[in-house]
Amino acid sequence: MEVFLGEWANLLIRWMHMIVGIGWIGTSFYFMALDYSLNKLGQKNPGVLGTAWQVHGGGFYYVEKYTVAPPQLPETLHWFKWEAYLTWVSGFGLLIVQYYLHARSYLIDPAVLPLEPWQAIAISLGSILVGWAIYEGLCRSPIGQNATLLALCFFALIIGAAVFYTHVYSGRGAFLHVGALTGSIMATNVFAVIVPNQKKMVAALIRGETPDAYYGMVGKQRSTHNNYLTLPVLLMMVSPHYPFLSSHPHAWMVVALILIAGATIRHYLNRVDAGDDWNSYGWAAPVAIGALMIAIFITAPRTKEGGAAVADAEALAITHKHCAMCHSAKPTHVAFQEAPKNVTLDTVADLKKYAALIYLQAVQNKAMPLGNETAMTDDEREALGRWVKALK
Ligand code: HEC
Repeated sequence: MEVFLGEWANLLIRWMHMIVGIGWIGTSFYFMALDYSLNKLGQKNPGVLGTAWQVHGGGFYYVEKYTVAPPQLPETLHWFKWEAYLTWVSGFGLLIVQYYLHARSYLIDPAVLPLEPWQAIAISLGSILVGWAIYEGLCRSPIGQNATLLALCFFALIIGAAVFYTHVYSGRGAFLHVGALTGSIMATNVFAVIVPNQKKMVAALIRGETPDAYYGMVGKQRSTHNNYLTLPVLLMMVSPHYPFLSSHPHAWMVVALILIAGATIRHYLNRVDAGDDWNSYGWAAPVAIGALMIAIFITAPRTKEGGAAVADAEALAITHKHCAMCHSAKPTHVAFQEAPKNVTLDTVADLKKYAALIYLQAVQNKAMPLGNETAMTDDEREALGRWVKALK
């Protein structure tokens, strides 16, 4: 029952995470596109930077953007912040129910570092805090004045985090944590910088003063960081479903390529929204495609050829030792009541039925056994691989 309810909790928190995440990213996309599509020419009201006519859902909208603030504060102001806060809260909830409560399965790989669950969790919390503090320090230091230099340092910070995480966690735990750290930085940007700065501007306005444009500028800088990070973070968040991403011994390179591809695709879309000349941003397309091609190349499977033939009984012995506690009609593993994904591996016929998937999960990507709980060796993986290959 506990396992069953735990699964429901996981599903419901995940559902919420997707809903509010879509809301957050949607508003981020919308406002970036709005900013880029503003018409800054022509007649405008005083204090207005630009205007835009838009059509959606059967109505026409006319939007004016005030650079600092309108001369008089409107009675009701619509804030866009709960999407961001709740995305972080639900994301942290998922981190707890999936990764902290099942640290041995999803976070720890004894072959990488034999951590105790409490150590893995402490590293997770500590690293997110330290990573965020470094980012905040960079933004507030003189480096923060130089947008390009800041972006490069930020890029290096995320790569550094990827190197760190791949040396302490399982592949999926590591990639998910790169996403969790980056997502936390994005949410704190909204919570600790963008919204407070906006509030300072509103307060100045209420006092009858002209708000300092500096606050708006810093807010814009952070929201641009967030905008460029959305696409890479989305991919990091779904990466646990694609174990091949973290299969390379230097998987941080894959993180770097995802960052480059995601940010350049975002840049391309931003410039399309701005209606720029293709010649000024067209370069982003080959860069993104190139980064993805390199990622495909470095994650391609490398398997050894040759070796002694493996008998059916031997293959079954390996899967009984390393898989059947979860993948059985009656699993004996405490965390599973039924075979995960309905993949039962009780008999030789089962192994033949799922041969291709077994090869992918246990030989190629080393994603199974989950968290390498049973410390499966590379020799055993190769033997299982030879058995599968001989089937054809
Ligand atoms: C500790 C429990 C556990 C062990 C041990 C385990 N698995 Fe899994 N397996 C899972 C879970 C959980 C999933 C679902 C994957 C997910 O949600 O990412 C899964 C999924 C799979 C899938 C389906 C993948 C897909 O996406 O279709 C295959 C195939 C698989 N495992 C093979 C194996 C093999 C082969 C072994 C032994 C070498 C093994 N597993 C050991 C828990 C386990």
